[in-house]
Amino acid sequence: MDTTRERVCEATEHVRAHTHHEPSIGLILGSGLGTLAARLVDPDIIPYDEIPHFPQSTVAGHSGRLVIGTLAGAQVLMMRGRVHYYEGYSTAQIGFPVRVMQQLGVETLCVTNAAGSLRPDWAPGDLMAIKDHLNVPGLTGHHPLRGPNDETFGPRFPSMSSAYDPNLLAVLRREADEQGVTLKEGIYVMVSGPSFETPAEVRFLRSTGADVVGMSTVPEVVVARHGGMRVLGISLISNVAVDSLRETSTETTHQEVLEVGEKTAPILASLIEGVVARLA
Ligand code: HPA
Repeated sequence: MDTTRERVCEATEHVRAHTHHEPSIGLILGSGLGTLAARLVDPDIIPYDEIPHFPQSTVAGHSGRLVIGTLAGAQVLMMRGRVHYYEGYSTAQIGFPVRVMQQLGVETLCVTNAAGSLRPDWAPGDLMAIKDHLNVPGLTGHHPLRGPNDETFGPRFPSMSSAYDPNLLAVLRREADEQGVTLKEGIYVMVSGPSFETPAEVRFLRSTGADVVGMSTVPEVVVARHGGMRVLGISLISNVAVDSLRETSTETTHQEVLEVGEKTAPILASLIEGVVARLA
């Protein structure tokens, strides 16, 4: 197995040896959402390719390094870049960095992603707090916890009934309110990618009750919950998913996803910083 305790501990030891911080909050940032890293005070920067067994990201726009430092009075560990299922990693491998966070003593995980809206009335640049998810790869067998269970990480059959922590969500709502940021709330459905959805798939996913669709986040959240961490998730709407064959002019591109991410990043960054300040 790629994610055994031994491997996790080797990676954790490397991180411990290269930082003087003891982070209690983990941040995983999605496409184009990296600007927050620059706000960390006294940062220790650890490239993924120097950490034993750490998955390496291969996508343009996802540079790979841990940035560990102080943000708004709290010690945080930020993943600058993440790996995805469509790159060829298993969902368990995607969860490996979260296991390292768990070993480091991280108790709160905040994940962000870029997502396509399944709701035609939402627009690029909107932010959505994730209230729940649909784990399509997991439901079809690609579950990050499939295989032997290490009880020292968490239970064999972990609950996912409140995967996204209601108290953290309340903190986020208050912070958004104070900053005058409109926050949508809804359900994130994970698909494997890398192709964007066909119009028929968009209509199918909408019929499941999901509000947005993306290609990340869920494996990390499942592993974090298995390990007893509490989770906050935010989606940045980068595009409205195309649900009709006639709308060829509005085809979704990776470039569009990155551009909207970069434009909305400052708003999302100050939201997260505000939440972290309230937790510190
Ligand atoms: N579909 C899937 N993943 C995505 C999308 C989308 O439309 N936008 C950003 N990530």
